[in-house]
Amino acid sequence: MCGIVGYVGPNSSLDVLLAGLSRLEYRGYDSAGVAVIDDAGHIGTRKRAGKLKELLGELEETPLNDGKTGIGHTRWATHGGPNDSNAHPHLGDNGKLALIHNGIIENFSELKQEMLDAGESFTSETDTEVAAIMVGREYRATGDLTESMRRVVARLEGAFTLLIVHEDSPGVVVGARRNSPLVIGLGDGENFLGSDVAAFVGFTRRAMEIGQDQIVTIRPDSVLVTDFDGAAVQNTEYEVAWDASAAEKGGWASFMAKEISEEPEAVANTLRGRIHDGAVTLPELAVLDDVVLAGINRVIVIACGTAAYAGAVGKYAIEKWARVPVEVELSHEFRYRDPILDERTLVVSISQSGETMDTLMAVKYAKASGARVLSICNTQGSTIPRESEAVIYTHAGPEVAVASTKAFVAQITALYLLGLHLAQVRGTLSAEAIAENVEELRAVPEKITEVLEVSKSIGQLAHWMTDTQSVLFLGRHVGYPIAMEGALKLKELAYIHAEGFAAGELKHGPIALIEPGQIVFVVVPSPRDPSSLHPKVVSNIQEIRARGARVIAIAEQGDAAVLPFADEVIPIPLAGSFFEPFLAVVPLHIFSMELAMAKGLDVDQPRNLAKSVTVE
Ligand code: F6R
Repeated sequence: MCGIVGYVGPNSSLDVLLAGLSRLEYRGYDSAGVAVIDDAGHIGTRKRAGKLKELLGELEETPLNDGKTGIGHTRWATHGGPNDSNAHPHLGDNGKLALIHNGIIENFSELKQEMLDAGESFTSETDTEVAAIMVGREYRATGDLTESMRRVVARLEGAFTLLIVHEDSPGVVVGARRNSPLVIGLGDGENFLGSDVAAFVGFTRRAMEIGQDQIVTIRPDSVLVTDFDGAAVQNTEYEVAWDASAAEKGGWASFMAKEISEEPEAVANTLRGRIHDGAVTLPELAVLDDVVLAGINRVIVIACGTAAYAGAVGKYAIEKWARVPVEVELSHEFRYRDPILDERTLVVSISQSGETMDTLMAVKYAKASGARVLSICNTQGSTIPRESEAVIYTHAGPEVAVASTKAFVAQITALYLLGLHLAQVRGTLSAEAIAENVEELRAVPEKITEVLEVSKSIGQLAHWMTDTQSVLFLGRHVGYPIAMEGALKLKELAYIHAEGFAAGELKHGPIALIEPGQIVFVVVPSPRDPSSLHPKVVSNIQEIRARGARVIAIAEQGDAAVLPFADEVIPIPLAGSFFEPFLAVVPLHIFSMELAMAKGLDVDQPRNLAKSVTVE
């Protein structure tokens, strides 16, 4: 939420900032702004409500003197509406200091009153401006940008990443972080700061983490990191595993279309190096060794949104394979309900971004309560893995479209690897059964590719639905979370009311919603499924058809029992029942995207959303 970029070096800072903002725009697009110290030593700012293109238009109309030091911001509004005056940067010290912020300063009202009492005035409704004014006052007192930042962060409560520049300190950008993300990009004679590595990966792939409650001062040839008390700290440098081209559209109409097409790779790359001779190897779990994992008596999966639906799919498989109870809970509900945790509880957090504040807070809480904490994450160097004892990285590559697609299938892959690993350690599955499941997993990428091929016709289906007001999604067993995911995607991309239900629950109430013409997607289990759920779901289809629903079934190729009752059937390849979610979700992702496109909506940046939700 909110994208932040900072630059010092020999090059045009405007070029670097605008390139960074275009890569960070998925974090928020309510407004964008930049501040640059020009070569004459004056600070200039431009900011505009709306997407980055509005700022680009503004810069064309009223160009800014370029320079070699600058900061840029793309906003997801929290305090104060998305208008020009609330856009960042905010100014302090009579306009000589510029500050940008990601997060929420929870005690801003009292600090604002203190500043008003001291004679300061405000031009925005944001919590951010109070920090700009406070740092400006400290700079007047100390003449030292880093020290000014240190004095102010000591007074702030809540979550924040702050970057500042001052025209009397050209060639310096100071950043600070508490509970919000910030990463350093290390260049040759130039350095960068960004909310994530996407901000600077076009310029350097050398990155360095910044820990919790740390302050960083970058100059063209130096990087100094201290804690909030001023003690120097040594952080780890790492190489970003992907290059800038991975975060480009590469000829696709949207990032979403590209990322859905990458679902096979996301699974294959997450499996790579982790299956050998029909068994699973997860060396990254070293701290959570076999003795620890054999001793756990409960797994709690915590996550939000799509990641939580991946967790719900994983629950079925982990319980079945490792015979350990699994609960799946939304991070924000888990954190505030005083859950019972001990050292035999394994808490597994799932997060694409690794920065979701609700999940981060839940991870910290679980750790402090004595639980063992493992994370599944797609973003190297992000905060949640750092707060966890161990991490299984999904290798879906950068996900730029705001709504998650390829990360979802990668998360299920990681959960299945974990489930099979637990089964190995706990001796709950035979070597043959493990090998069979490993083989099923290995076959998933190719089967998703087949689904992508048959799903090309979904565009036509979507086109006649642009006036649809409501769509229901039904599924059972592992198909239930897929129904929930289908509904979430449709809401967020196409702004259509949608709900996902467990098919068995229909008769307990939701069937009252069915009226002639109601569109219902049904994820149908395989007729070969040993749990005999197939006939039950076929009966559900008949019940809703009898009441006039229009049924679109996602069913196994050759499932003849469904044909007479479905208006449309989207066939998916044969797979073991635990592996159907990988295949059934793909047409649902495509359907939501196609319907949103048919309605003329921006599928990469749906309204009111942001990719990385760094506020609670
Ligand atoms: C939905 C979506 C969100 C995220 C959720 C968690 O398409 O993208 O529901 O899944 O905000 O985000 P991460 O995985 O980054 O923690």
